[in-house]
Amino acid sequence: MPRKIIIDCDPGQDDALMLFLAFAAQDELEILGVCAVTGNVPLEKTQRNICILSDIVGNKTVPMFAGCDKPLETEGATAEYVHGEDGIDGIDIFDPVTKLESKGAVDFIIDTLMSAADNEITLVPIGPLINIATAILREPAILPKIREIVLMGGAMREGGNVTPSAEFNIYVDPHAAKIVFECGRPIVAFGLDVTHQVFTSAEVLDRISTIDNPVAKASHDLLSFFGRYDADKYGTEGAPLHDPCTIAYLLKPELFALKSCNVRVETQSALTMGHTAVDFWGVTNEPKNTQWAYQVDRDGFFELLIERLGRYRA
Ligand code: RIB
Ligand code: CA
Repeated sequence: MPRKIIIDCDPGQDDALMLFLAFAAQDELEILGVCAVTGNVPLEKTQRNICILSDIVGNKTVPMFAGCDKPLETEGATAEYVHGEDGIDGIDIFDPVTKLESKGAVDFIIDTLMSAADNEITLVPIGPLINIATAILREPAILPKIREIVLMGGAMREGGNVTPSAEFNIYVDPHAAKIVFECGRPIVAFGLDVTHQVFTSAEVLDRISTIDNPVAKASHDLLSFFGRYDADKYGTEGAPLHDPCTIAYLLKPELFALKSCNVRVETQSALTMGHTAVDFWGVTNEPKNTQWAYQVDRDGFFELLIERLGRYRA
């Protein structure tokens, strides 16, 4: 029985690779909908980008939704310096055939969950957690319907990528992140500690370039652009594939090492706003609300990604 999931994202080149991996796994995953949120670039572009990516994978059935365009309380931030002005720089921007649904993403999330059984649906947010938190605030009765929240966000040993202590998705809306981490549903979190173990490389891009289909071609072009900033920043050959870690976990959980930890989010300090305090060694009595990913089989991760990209038709 395919696992029912709702994807919430802010494309973003790594969001794009996550979508490509998810749409190549429709035997294992039933994607109920894809929601856009402001993040890497403003909502007006992330909502367009999910439709462009939908066209690229040849999607005709999974609906696309636009969500929140600003954080709950903070100013927020965007990351054009990493992802380019369009957010999915590296590929041509075109007017997509796929159109957004008229219903908003938050209403879609609430309506879908409220019509589901308990523990039936997995939420997979890979951008700022504004849509998810807004849905929880608007209709707390959705909580028992959530099987798991499998998210990309946070950092522990790795430090921050947008401030010295905060990872981007959490930093953009720390109040939303606090609501999600404290919602009481099972959370699996892929922070920078694990996503910085899956940097792309020239070898990975070479292997992708040998795959003859439009999705692999788009992947190669997206990652070629996406790699430049982080390669320079971290002295690596390419960029970290943050968001695809979530789908890789859903498809092959054995690729990852996880530890049950308490994770709390800083929402007061200007210096450390958005910091994820991960109690990895259990030094508090706080509830272990999160399965924190801390290790990944890099070779196995890229084998999975490349094999799935190869499944798309030429
Ligand atoms: O910090 C990395 C995360 O922020 C990724 O999800 C990237 O797409 C951006 O949303
Ligand atoms: Ca993202």
